[in-house]
Amino acid sequence: MVGARWEAVVKLIPENGVVIITDENLYNIYGQLFPAFPVLKINPGEDSKQLKVIEKLAKKLLDKGIDRSGFILAIGGGVVCDVAGFLASVYMRGIRCGYVSTTLLSQVDASTGGKNGVNLGVVKNVIGNIRQPEFVICDTSMLQTLSQDEYLSGLAELIKTGVIGDESIIEILENRFPDVMKRDRGILTDLVARSVRFKASVVSEDEKETGKRRILNFGHTFGHAVELHQSVKHGFAIASGMELATIFSLKKGYIRKDESDRIITLLKKYSLLNDHDIPAEDISKLILHDKKKAGEDIHFVFTEGTGKATVRKIPVGEVVDFYREFKNR
Ligand SMILES: NC(=O)c1ccc[n+]([C@@H]2O[C@H](COP(=O)([O-])OP(=O)(O)OC[C@H]3O[C@@H](n4cnc5c(N)ncnc54)[C@H](O)[C@@H]3O)[C@@H](O)[C@H]2O)c1
Repeated sequence: MVGARWEAVVKLIPENGVVIITDENLYNIYGQLFPAFPVLKINPGEDSKQLKVIEKLAKKLLDKGIDRSGFILAIGGGVVCDVAGFLASVYMRGIRCGYVSTTLLSQVDASTGGKNGVNLGVVKNVIGNIRQPEFVICDTSMLQTLSQDEYLSGLAELIKTGVIGDESIIEILENRFPDVMKRDRGILTDLVARSVRFKASVVSEDEKETGKRRILNFGHTFGHAVELHQSVKHGFAIASGMELATIFSLKKGYIRKDESDRIITLLKKYSLLNDHDIPAEDISKLILHDKKKAGEDIHFVFTEGTGKATVRKIPVGEVVDFYREFKNR
């Protein structure tokens, strides 16, 4: 539900047996307005995506007498929704859940598609499953309280959706820059709705990521390598990954120079591109860390111009060579 006021969530949850899962930051800003149910808080950030956090939360659910008829309401960004969604999927073999999604990244990406899960050491999202929440509320007025970095990081995901599937997103981001930077509620609601619509259409065709869903990984092969090598926020890493994937697409002849320039100009306009310099000897190791690898080949997502993407299976060596070539330009 994009555009609804988050406070209206009370109409969607049961009258009893509800537990709210959130993080400390969200609780400090919005906690006073939460519906009157027990609240379990996790520490903000990626470190909370661990099995031991799931175990602790499950114990607390038991203590609170939550049984199979219970309901978990997640109020937070991608971390809270991934943790709460996974917990709901395994607690007592699965209880009901719903999300109030509070970051731009989680509104445009994390809360559509039903993926949830936790990390194993540094390897992301290895333990989890795919299970849809009953609802997701995306109230873009909550984005006013996000830090600038978190906001820009989410914009990178919007650009990704524009590049792979919905050119109108790119047009709006190009033409309404001042309003987007002011976080205008109306424009953001429109952008998030377009993004969710696109992602939902892809996911409904390929829930288990065996085909079309792979295009959603545009920018991720190089992006994950950048993210693992230097700790930048996910969206900034994906932006660098999109820059590389775009120039790689140009080199392969899948797009024209003006199309490639358009994508890179937009990434620069929103200050999303940072320097990265992954040593030659590390790049293949970091890329192979990517779960999407298939033997010695990798499913690499190329752009064919704004609004179109294609997935090609190519040798990892070719991807590594391109990174070296890019750095030596
Ligand atoms: N399940 C999926 O399909 C999927 C897709 C993409 C990403 N993810 C996951 O999402 C996670 C990243 O999500 P994220 O970027 O939302 O990070 P996050 O949940 O860590 O939130 C980022 C920071 O913003 C704060 N915050 C959240 N909402 C706020 C608000 N409205 N006002 C002020 N502060 C707020 C949080 O406390 C946190 O400090 C990663 O773990 C990633 O793996 C999942």
